Amino acid sequence: MMLVVIATDGLMLDRKAKYMTSNHFAIRTEKNMRIVCIGGGPAGLYFGLLMKKENPAHHVTVIERNKPYDTFGWGVVFSDATMENMRAWDSETAQEIESAFNHWDDIEVLIKGKRMRTTGHGFVGIGRKRLLNILQARCEALGVELVFNREVDSDLEFPDADLVIASDGINSKIRNRYQQAFRPDLVVRPNRFIWLGTNKRYDAFTFDFRRTEHGWFQAHIYKFDEDTSTFIIETTEDIFQAHGLDKADETRSIAFCEELFSEVLDGANLMSNARHLRGSAWLNFNRLICGKWSHFNGQSHVVLMGDAAHTAHFAIGSGTKLALEDAIELTQQFRKLGATPDKIPDVLAAYEEVRAVDVARIQNAARNAMEWFEVVGSRYADTLEPEQFMYSLLTRSQRISHENLRVRDKVWLEGYERWFAARSGINVDPDGPPVPPMFTPYRVRGLTLQNRIVMSPMAMYSANDGLPNDFHLVHFGSRALGGAGLLFSEMTCVSPDARITPGCLGLWNDEQAAAWKRIVDFVHTTTSAKFGLQLGHAGRKGSTRVAWEGIDQPLEAGNWPLISASALPYMANSQVPHAMTRADVERVKADFVAATKRGIEVGFDIIELHCAHGYLLSCFLSPLTNRRTDEYGGSHENNARYPLEVFRAIRDVWPQEKPMSVRLSCHDWTEGGNTPADAAIYAKMFKEAGADLVDCSSGQVSKEEKPVYGRLFQTPFSDKLRNEVGIATVAVGAISEADHANSIIAAGRADLCALARPHLADTAWTLHEAAKIGVKSIAWPKQYLSGKAQYETNLARAAAGPQPS
Ligand SMILES: Cc1cc2nc3c(=O)[nH]c(=O)nc-3n(C[C@H](O)[C@H](O)[C@H](O)COP(=O)(O)OP(=O)(O)OC[C@H]3O[C@@H](n4cnc5c(N)ncnc54)[C@H](O)[C@@H]3O)c2cc1C
Ligand SMILES: Cc1cc2nc3c(=O)[nH]c(=O)nc-3n(C[C@H](O)[C@H](O)[C@H](O)COP(=O)(O)O)c2cc1C
Repeated sequence: MMLVVIATDGLMLDRKAKYMTSNHFAIRTEKNMRIVCIGGGPAGLYFGLLMKKENPAHHVTVIERNKPYDTFGWGVVFSDATMENMRAWDSETAQEIESAFNHWDDIEVLIKGKRMRTTGHGFVGIGRKRLLNILQARCEALGVELVFNREVDSDLEFPDADLVIASDGINSKIRNRYQQAFRPDLVVRPNRFIWLGTNKRYDAFTFDFRRTEHGWFQAHIYKFDEDTSTFIIETTEDIFQAHGLDKADETRSIAFCEELFSEVLDGANLMSNARHLRGSAWLNFNRLICGKWSHFNGQSHVVLMGDAAHTAHFAIGSGTKLALEDAIELTQQFRKLGATPDKIPDVLAAYEEVRAVDVARIQNAARNAMEWFEVVGSRYADTLEPEQFMYSLLTRSQRISHENLRVRDKVWLEGYERWFAARSGINVDPDGPPVPPMFTPYRVRGLTLQNRIVMSPMAMYSANDGLPNDFHLVHFGSRALGGAGLLFSEMTCVSPDARITPGCLGLWNDEQAAAWKRIVDFVHTTTSAKFGLQLGHAGRKGSTRVAWEGIDQPLEAGNWPLISASALPYMANSQVPHAMTRADVERVKADFVAATKRGIEVGFDIIELHCAHGYLLSCFLSPLTNRRTDEYGGSHENNARYPLEVFRAIRDVWPQEKPMSVRLSCHDWTEGGNTPADAAIYAKMFKEAGADLVDCSSGQVSKEEKPVYGRLFQTPFSDKLRNEVGIATVAVGAISEADHANSIIAAGRADLCALARPHLADTAWTLHEAAKIGVKSIAWPKQYLSGKAQYETNLARAAAGPQPS
């Protein structure tokens, strides 16, 4: 509400015309606003100048606690898109910034004695001081009042401000005053970093990884002006402490880093400009998300901007970009909805709505990249070869994919593809087209798959008495003709009462074995695909209707009794299972062994033991479903005991030259349930019992689950298990393009990629994806060859766009 008491020039003036921060009289009209930006970082300065430019009648003040040239930090990086946006809003600032930019294309990675380089990555860097000075100068030119050396304690110090911008950075006092309104969610991340500079000029964005007796340190290095480079050094808390850096002052920390990174520093010194920081100069990154961004303090509207509202880890260099884009969006909303005090609530709501989406997207990518650097020492640096390590680093945010890397640096990517292909056993022709990673063969025990694509197990609910029929012959046969390297059967049940539904397939009698053999023989004789048997027992999720008649709903008639680890029903209206007795334990194990023996007769190439999705063995692994107090429950070791007994019993009869996989729910997505850390413990146990692969799925253990879906959403579990436990993995879940599969396989996030729904939509998914990425060497069934050429030609025509008629 505006209090208006005097009118001089026909316009109405505010009762409090004397502006608190300056000693001149500022006139407020209904057509302008008084804006105070608390904090003169990129957000406050840029918003201040944009609003002043929009309407010179606005009274804009930016208040900064530091002196004009006194700032923490060295250089910051920007993307081209941010610059384009800035050019549109204030070309003067953009030009100044661009003339101060240092542009570079290359990324160089140093690890384990190797120095590797790739180009085409297009960054620009600028000194933080330089950037602030440009913004300050532009503010002054436009008439923004800049107040330095003033510490603001409260937004209430500006009673006549219409709008207070809390652009006071990550430790925002203003945000902290109104915690209930802003609902900040601040997580202190585990890594330690120190932000230093050096006078050595690097011509590439350089990542240097160094191992000490305690573990890995990494340096992120980039030049930002003619003679200075940013040099950020990062490590984990335990390594930081093991080196006594928690007790080291800044001088000792710098000396330590200079010695550790002496090769890349090549005689140059490291410098700090954070002398104002008390204690250790090493910091932890604070990840911040706010539930709400604006608040009315009783006299003014207060809104968060930049780091005060959100942070994005420096691993993707987006903090400044976000701060500037916040400033642009708020200005844009004022332009759109009206820049007068009465419009402020609507403007702030619109600003928050638009920015929250964009910020979440960047924070997501930043989180992936940040987490990569948090685990790099324990997960990748020792495990991956330098070449693959570099690929993993480049794709750390999972926003840069395989084909994206090809656009950036074709020569480097093709070199990597050849390297990867040679590692997979291909006789590489240095002059021929490289083979993309998903089309390289994979060997495990005596089994060789022609490519890395797996048709994931999928229940079709189309059997009677567990007997495969012509539907299954056509279903599997057509997918085998479609190019996948490996097909998995649906969960094939080891006894009638092991079925999920009356339509599930089984392998508990000879008639079923004979029907399976017909299908497996067809696949083996007609195609080069291999065939895997997924063996399982439904446990407490059994005796339900086929999917299209009510998934997980009990049968209307003909239910059979259920067993599980504990007597807990899946849903409130589900049948209550009985907790398995010793006799049940032995009977079911014997059923698995008998089915395995039939599987050998049938000729399956690999067995996967289904320990996921809340079925019988999964219920032993999860604390949500296993409440046993005997040797089969209560600890990781006890929870895994029965699944491991079954696994070992199968492994004992399954031929040594044939591999075995285990499917795990790597995350229960439920409070108190298993997490990827638990999955890693179980994966290690299965590995020790002889498992060759872990198929990394998740969920379906509890109806309370809150899974976070999204592209490749389960791949991080595969990445973790593969590179921390050291077991080969299958990634599955929302993998739908060749580009996804290539990125996953090339980065070593999995050895194989399983796709379920894409194979329902397209029986020839693998052949079609090969054609889409221009790989012609993949063999089509000879009967279908004339379709191949036409398909490829049509794709090429579509890619070339409309042709003149
Ligand atoms: C190691 C590291 C590397 C980074 N690298 C990059 C990068 O490469 N690219 C990138 O885009 N971003 C990077 N960032 C992030 C970037 O620095 C911030 O995201 C960005 O500065 C946010 O701008 P801001 O205006 O919101 O906040 P800040 O830049 O933090 O500005 C806030 C200002 O408010 C002032 N202030 C605070 N409280 C008060 C008070 N009570 N009274 C008066 N003044 C106050 C502070 O002195 C400060 O000047 C990095 C950050 C770190 C830590
Ligand atoms: C129709 C259907 C049936 C499924 N049946 C099984 C199954 O029998 N065993 C199993 O482990 N997973 C089963 N799944 C899960 C898939 O194997 C896969 O993990 C999941 O669909 C995610 O992969 P996608 O995103 O490629 O579909 C099934 C999925 C679908 C869509």
